[in-house]
Amino acid sequence: MDPIREVLADWTREVPESEIRRLLKNKTKYYLAGGLPGNLPTKIFPEILRELADYYDSDSQNVINEFQYGQTAGDPGFRKVLAERIHRRDGIDIISGAEDWEKILITTGSQQAVYLALDTLINPGDIVVTPSPAYLGFVTTVVKVGGHVVTAPTDADGLIPEYVEDTIIKAEKEFGKKVKILYVVEDSDNPKGTTLPIKRREQLFNIAEQHDVIVIADSAYKEIQFEQKRPSMKTLDKDNSRVIYTSSTSKEAAPLRLGYSLFPDFLHSEAEKSKGYIDLCTPTITQRIAEIYYGKYIDEQLPIIVQKYKDQKDAAYQALLETFPEGDFTNPTGGFFIWWQPKGEQAYTFDVRKFNQEILHPNDVLVVPGAAFYPPTGHSYDPEAREIEPLKVITGGMRIGYSFLPPDLIDVGVRKLGNLLKENL
Ligand SMILES: Cc1ncc(COP(=O)(O)O)c(C=O)c1O
Repeated sequence: MDPIREVLADWTREVPESEIRRLLKNKTKYYLAGGLPGNLPTKIFPEILRELADYYDSDSQNVINEFQYGQTAGDPGFRKVLAERIHRRDGIDIISGAEDWEKILITTGSQQAVYLALDTLINPGDIVVTPSPAYLGFVTTVVKVGGHVVTAPTDADGLIPEYVEDTIIKAEKEFGKKVKILYVVEDSDNPKGTTLPIKRREQLFNIAEQHDVIVIADSAYKEIQFEQKRPSMKTLDKDNSRVIYTSSTSKEAAPLRLGYSLFPDFLHSEAEKSKGYIDLCTPTITQRIAEIYYGKYIDEQLPIIVQKYKDQKDAAYQALLETFPEGDFTNPTGGFFIWWQPKGEQAYTFDVRKFNQEILHPNDVLVVPGAAFYPPTGHSYDPEAREIEPLKVITGGMRIGYSFLPPDLIDVGVRKLGNLLKENL
């Protein structure tokens, strides 16, 4: 082996660079790949920054005291504002208002909360059940920390409870080990854009209870919902012992890179401890901006931002309906992504990675290939055989991101994509 490579930790060989970050380096006119937030409160942020600049200018001793390294778990002011918001928005029993602020953990992006959850729970070989396909920042991190991913099938409504239960039973039998975590993206999943119906949330929670599995309910797209918000699985976790709830400001206020989460009682201080060893604390200044934004402006700004994402989604969906060959696809009720895959065996034989490089890129279009949403190693549950099998990857699937471009460019880009698919399938 190359002597330089020899000194690296094993995971660096097992875990590839994120396909999305690689694709971000390729700029195309019709960029339907990375989920970059394209709508921000560009008028309000300058006001907040000016307000803060004036304060910074006026009282240097207070500024030095206040804008110090902060608490590892997050700035109390921002956590109080969030506790109030979560109380109004989510109906989670353990948060009855600002007074419950200490239950909230602020992280640097919700990606860090996901990392903390895995870091504090996974021992080598521990099994984690995820959707197929699943958010790559989750599945790859499971492998990075030594866990073992088993994917469960999804349909246009997300995870299918009956198959999740069978996946747990069969995986425990096959690997002689308990399943530790079930990962669920409740609202507008990445990459499929599916939202779990309330009934499925209840069924999945009950399955997790019965099989003593911890749930990570990732709701990164909670605020970007085109329809009424549905209650999180965290609302079912009455004694705060089973569900890790993670959410983010990133999708509606991207530059702040702030995530927030509720960990079960037995995990909260462990997650905080882990965060302390990763970054000591999240920057105070971004939390102060967020405190002002979420305290004063978000309720008036969010409908404007959400409507813009909805217009982008409508443009992408309409263009897809009019130009794509026969396939299975989603019609998201929020979030940033539509998923498309060809019917039948072609879902597993068509190679979107190659199609992206050889056909789409030269035509100024890019998507994220389905294969990116699988871990580098793992297993899958096969619903026909009702067995665990080697990892089965939907290579013919693709994530079409509509969050960044204006609707007119999305329209042209998605039409080009549909026509090129027809020529090449
Ligand atoms: C499902 C899901 N969870 C978590 C994250 C992490 O988001 P952030 O770190 O920006 O809060 C993302 C980002 O794309 C995501 O799609």
